[in-house]
Amino acid sequence: MIVLGLETSCDETAAAVVENGSRVLGSVVASQIEMHREYGGVVPELAFRKHLELVNPVLDQVLRETGLGFGELGAVAVSHGPGLVGALLVGVATAKVVSGVLGIPLIGVNHLEAHLYANFLGPAADRIRFPVVCLLVSGGHTMLLYIQSHGQYELLGETRDDAAGEAFDKVARSLGLGYPGGPLIDRLAESGNPRAVSFPRAWLGDDSLAFSFSGLKTAVLNFSRSEVAADFSIPDVCASFQEAVVEVLVGKTMRAVKARGVSTVLMAGGVVCNSRLRSRMAEACAARGVDLFYPTFGLCTDNAVMVACAGYHRLCAGQRSGLDLDCFPSLPIGGLSRLGDDVRPR
Ligand code: KG4
Ligand code: ZN
Repeated sequence: MIVLGLETSCDETAAAVVENGSRVLGSVVASQIEMHREYGGVVPELAFRKHLELVNPVLDQVLRETGLGFGELGAVAVSHGPGLVGALLVGVATAKVVSGVLGIPLIGVNHLEAHLYANFLGPAADRIRFPVVCLLVSGGHTMLLYIQSHGQYELLGETRDDAAGEAFDKVARSLGLGYPGGPLIDRLAESGNPRAVSFPRAWLGDDSLAFSFSGLKTAVLNFSRSEVAADFSIPDVCASFQEAVVEVLVGKTMRAVKARGVSTVLMAGGVVCNSRLRSRMAEACAARGVDLFYPTFGLCTDNAVMVACAGYHRLCAGQRSGLDLDCFPSLPIGGLSRLGDDVRPR
């Protein structure tokens, strides 16, 4: 089945065509980062208008690149939350038109679920053995999930305040580095000493699988304003901050692995572009004999390939959305079987 994926939840307008949930026929991502950069973050009103302007050209482009006509599409999948409501509406409305006019199935996809489905593309898909623990780290979310099988999620822990990506972005802003912060800090940290400054790690107790990054963010801000800061280079501060984030992400993922006795870890979301997170997680998993999977760089950040892939799996499970599909800015990831103590009440 050939599935068209559409993604407009934040600041990327994306369309992709994927065959049978794993073979990518075409993918186009139009990033709005340049437009939002001067404001130091995503401006929802501007994002919505840019999506309106770009969604049809992006859709046309992906069809041109694949050489496919609308008639060859078998279904359309779209992110319908979580995200910015105006931004989500553009993708959902477009998907409804495609579905309604062509008479093909429509499926609404959770954007976070889509992120983790970026792991199921290509040959790796056949090697992933359930159950797995998944670390999902993006600009808006940080969570640990126990996944029993396709679509069966248990939320083990999530952030109590800032998301990991948000912490990178805010720390970069406070250091005057620019937006988005993750890639900038990652690059600067390469030449820094991760042990130069001892920033706090929020372990939140011996067994906790919850996260908290706001204390760390404030610690970096206070440090950068202090007199001692002059003795340290920006790369040293970046490397030390990054190390504090990565150590907690890896440590808590390994706690979840141990608690649930799984032998497979997945990572997903934009922060998985981080080079230190990739290498430290690989070391930790290798030491425990655990298989680790994470998407290629372009599939970690927002794209529509992951949406088409997640949609394909839902369609295969017999699910369909109606033309009354709605958008949900804080849509929880589907099928949560239990909310643990570490999970923030909604
Ligand atoms: O998943 P994503 O593209 O969008 C959301 O759904 O939020 O994630 C974007 C986030 C941003 O906060 C960005 O700073 C972060 O991912 N990010 C990184 C890196 N590349 C992107 N964080 C750390 N290191 C990176 N190399
Ligand atoms: Zn995302």
